[in-house]
Amino acid sequence: MGRSRAGLVQRYDAPVTTRLRNCDPALRRAWHSLCRDTEIGLQPRAFRLLGEDWVVWRDLDGTARVFRDLCPHRQAPLSLGSCTEGTLRCPYHGWSFNAEGACVDIPALGSDATYPPRAKLTGPAGVHESHGIIFIAPDEPLTPKPVVAAASDPTMMRGDVPVETTRGGAGLLADNFLDMAHFPFVHAGTFGADEVREVPPYTVTRDGYRFEAVYEHDFANREDPKVATGEHPLIQRRRLTYRYTAPFHLELDIHFLETGGTNVIGFFLTPVDDDHVRVYSSLWRNDMNGDETLMQAAVDFEVAVIAEDLALQSRFGQLSLPLDPTIEVHTRADKTTIELRRILSEFCTAASA
Ligand code: FES
Ligand SMILES: [Fe+2]
Repeated sequence: MGRSRAGLVQRYDAPVTTRLRNCDPALRRAWHSLCRDTEIGLQPRAFRLLGEDWVVWRDLDGTARVFRDLCPHRQAPLSLGSCTEGTLRCPYHGWSFNAEGACVDIPALGSDATYPPRAKLTGPAGVHESHGIIFIAPDEPLTPKPVVAAASDPTMMRGDVPVETTRGGAGLLADNFLDMAHFPFVHAGTFGADEVREVPPYTVTRDGYRFEAVYEHDFANREDPKVATGEHPLIQRRRLTYRYTAPFHLELDIHFLETGGTNVIGFFLTPVDDDHVRVYSSLWRNDMNGDETLMQAAVDFEVAVIAEDLALQSRFGQLSLPLDPTIEVHTRADKTTIELRRILSEFCTAASA
C-alpha cells in the first residue's frame, strides 16, 4: 500500500500468507469461540473448528471438558457416546475416559488390565470460558484471551443473539464488522438510512494483536423517547469504539453522549471449515432497566442487522481474506480493515516461524 489521492495508507511487510482461509494452519495458534454454554450439557456434543471436530461435555463440577472427537482406539466419534458421572464412554467398543482424558476402562480386556500408554484423549492447548462462550486454543496460543469489559460490569444486561451458521469467511466477516462505510448501503432496511456516507477521520491504536478505533459523530436518534417530548434534540452525538482481538473477536461500544447509554455488541466468529462460520454475538446494554422484553427487541433488531450483512457476505466468490495488500484497493476510510489485515499478516508470520 502506498500514497494515493485518497490519502496515506501505511505499508506493512509482504505477508507469508497471500489470502487467509478459514482453515489456515496458523489459526491453530489462537483462541477461538467453540460453543456457547447453553449448547452443552452433561452428555457429549461435537463442535467443528478449523475443519476438526471437538467433543464437549460438562463435568460434574461444572467444568467444560474438550477433546478431539476421535477415539484413540479406532477413531470413532466420541460425541456419539455417552457420559456417566463425568466419564465418557466410546460408542464403538466401550472404552471409557475420565475428565482428564485418561482411559479408565477397556471392556474387552476385562478387569485388572494394563492400558496402552497412548490410550488417552487429545485435548487443545487451552480451554477458557468467559461471558457465556467456551473458547479453545488448539495449539499454544500467540493471541490474548478475548475479554469483553462490559461482561464484568454489573450495570450491563446481556442479551444473546441466536447462534447462526453461515457460508462465509471468518476474515471477511471480521472485515465487515469493522467496516464503517457500508452502513447506508447494506443496512438501509434497519439503521443505515439516516447514516451519513462520509467516514470521518479517526485514529487506530494498536496493542500487540489487538487494536482500538474511536470516533464520534452526530446521528438522528429516532429510538430516544425523549426526542418526541422535546427533552432531547433529534440530532445527538455518539462515540463509537471498535475493539479487535486477533483473529476473530470483535466488539463495538456505542456510547450515547447525551443520554449516557452504552450499547456493546460482541461478535465472536468461529471458522468451522473453509466455507462456513458460526457467529456468536451478544449485546450488553445499560439502558434496559432489567426489562427482558426491551432486551428481546434489541436482540431481534441485531438479528435483522446481522441478516443484512450475511446476505451479502455469504455470496462472496472467494471466502478467504486477502492479506497481500496489492490484491485490493484501500482508502483512508478503511483504516480499521487495513489494520485487521496487518495484524493477521503478522500473526500468520509469527505462527509459521
Ligand atoms: S473406537 Fe472407541 S472404543 Fe474402539
Ligand atoms: Fe454491517
